[in-house]
Amino acid sequence: MERAFSIFVISLSRRSPGEGGRIRVSFFVISAFACPAVVPRLRDEGGCFVICFPFCASCVTFPFMRRAIYPGSFDPITNGHLDVIERARKLFDEVVVAVAHNDEKQPLFSLKDRLDLLRETAGKIDNVRIAEFEGLLVEFARKEEAGAVIRGLRAVSDFEFEFQMALMNRKLDAAVETIFLMPKEEYTYLSSRIVKEIARLGGDVSAFVPVLVARALAIKLKKNISTK
Ligand code: PNS
Repeated sequence: MERAFSIFVISLSRRSPGEGGRIRVSFFVISAFACPAVVPRLRDEGGCFVICFPFCASCVTFPFMRRAIYPGSFDPITNGHLDVIERARKLFDEVVVAVAHNDEKQPLFSLKDRLDLLRETAGKIDNVRIAEFEGLLVEFARKEEAGAVIRGLRAVSDFEFEFQMALMNRKLDAAVETIFLMPKEEYTYLSSRIVKEIARLGGDVSAFVPVLVARALAIKLKKNISTK
């Protein structure tokens, strides 16, 4: 009976990939096996509720887990990126901030540095995870079982490229939806490229990036930039 029930719930959860399926399967399996086995034994001792509640709660919670990927070069992360992450994490159970290898863009920071800076900033925020990916974004989204890709949209100038990318990604995998989020107005003119240019010319970037990033830029560019 228990075995039949677990097979049934596994097949149910496999039918809807992209929503935390792996975790869901394991919790369902544990619940399906443990509840029927444990309940009769503990009912008499009054401990049934204590054991059953976490299992049942997991059954209710995990099927609805929503995960989004926030991809980018993050060379380096700016306050604009952090603003988008804050907005995205309110809409999803988990936001995976994914750094593209993107070597053809010749980034200022190495992949390791970009990941470290992200881990020390965005990585400290609840329900945000930092990852890296190589190859197609939609394949990474599929691997992560994410149903959405987040992109920040600052101005009309962003639109053409973003529109093309969103439609191409939809063509590659219709199950992955692109969601555009607008950062605070004060960040609409902000980009990693402009921050790097200001830093390179000796300007103060402390209002545009986390302190850690401003320091990393100063070290990288060997300029005397005030990081406060
Ligand atoms: O921060 P960026 O540089 O604007 O990010 C661009 C990024 C990394 C999101 C984009 O280049 C990308 O998705 N690269 C992965 C390769 C891919 O899937 N290309 C097809 C998308 S049209």
